Amino acid sequence: MAKHILLIIGGGIAAYKSLFLIRVLARRGIKSTVILTKGGSEFVTALSAGGLSGEKVYTDLFDLTAEAEMGHIELSRSADLVVVAPATADLMAKAAHGIANDLATTTLLATDKRTLYAPAMNVRMWDNPATQRNMKLLQKDGALFIGPDEGEMACGEFGHGRMAEPEAIADTIEKILKGDTTLDGLRGPKPLKGKKALITAGPTREPIDPVRYLSNHSSGKQGYAIAAALGRLGAEVTLVSGPVAIDPPACAKLVKVETARDMLAACEAAMPADIFVSVAAVADWRTDGCAEIKIKKGKSGIPALKLVENPDILASIATAENRPELVIGFAAETNDVIKHAKAKLSKKQCDWIVANDVSGDVMGGDHNSLIVVTKGGEEVFPKLTKTDAARRLAEKIAAELT
Ligand code: C5P
Repeated sequence: MAKHILLIIGGGIAAYKSLFLIRVLARRGIKSTVILTKGGSEFVTALSAGGLSGEKVYTDLFDLTAEAEMGHIELSRSADLVVVAPATADLMAKAAHGIANDLATTTLLATDKRTLYAPAMNVRMWDNPATQRNMKLLQKDGALFIGPDEGEMACGEFGHGRMAEPEAIADTIEKILKGDTTLDGLRGPKPLKGKKALITAGPTREPIDPVRYLSNHSSGKQGYAIAAALGRLGAEVTLVSGPVAIDPPACAKLVKVETARDMLAACEAAMPADIFVSVAAVADWRTDGCAEIKIKKGKSGIPALKLVENPDILASIATAENRPELVIGFAAETNDVIKHAKAKLSKKQCDWIVANDVSGDVMGGDHNSLIVVTKGGEEVFPKLTKTDAARRLAEKIAAELT
């Protein structure tokens, strides 16, 4: 049977691209029923949308209810997928908070189908924490997003805000309709439902005095991406994180820590867990006591910092009485990566060591080449974005535990 989408056209200059989208989809055998918001009808007409879709275009909630009892419910349920393009900041805000005061928002609230948003707005509106928050809320509820793309916008500014191109939106729609579960946020299978995952991420900060500390370059990106990927597969995630400059995934319970000792205490408090992934770049040493006041320059020459060893969080959790079923460590190495990873596997008593070569721009960068070393062998992942590497690792974890 031909696939069928419900296309909500919001009020933005990108609305003209949604007319192309209707055509592109029709060429691929996908039918569109259009809801045109009041704002949308300022940019394109119901006549053009209807001419291209070959279907009646809906604009008013009350027309519809007069036509048939519960008309908007039926409209929201009869399609295979709901697509909001352009998704304005206003539509996203209303949908995120369950506000239903016109046909489009009422339909979004009533639907039992997946929703794909293609946002389009000014870059500052997109970057605004309110819009970012709303996107995360919608994603948490299972919504999918495509774009916005980076580029020059109709308002003359440059940045993220352009609606994704119709061909790209149509490709994503086809993938979703085919049941592709690799897309972010997809309401797909949740193989890790009922499992608890504990992740450490970021660096630790070991104080020298009230203003100085020892730390490292870890950005937290890989650990945060793994937390998000496990959450997407249904795990209940606790993310124990050292100081980083990135936002936590909405699905995770975040516990912020500074020192290695705080991180160990937070992990112990978060136990029991089924999965432990130790991604944090824990400082190996701390100073032997933190000076109570700032160490003054010059008075007694250069201070000799006495260092003492920090607790090994991974080894502690791997040997704990209530040890998680799957304990995974990371090994950041600059040479003999696999050899070191294998040694770490037995030394720390974990089940897997994920080795990565940090001789390049891995720390702080957006890509990673991971090798999963298990007792039975090695699996080499190609160079991937940290998000994709995380997804692959999460899928391997799910395969191991289910
Ligand atoms: O011994 P090394 O630091 O190379 O081991 C790396 C692995 O051990 C990582 O998984 C890291 O999160 C973990 N680790 C730890 N506590 C430490 C040092 C490392 O949990 N004190």
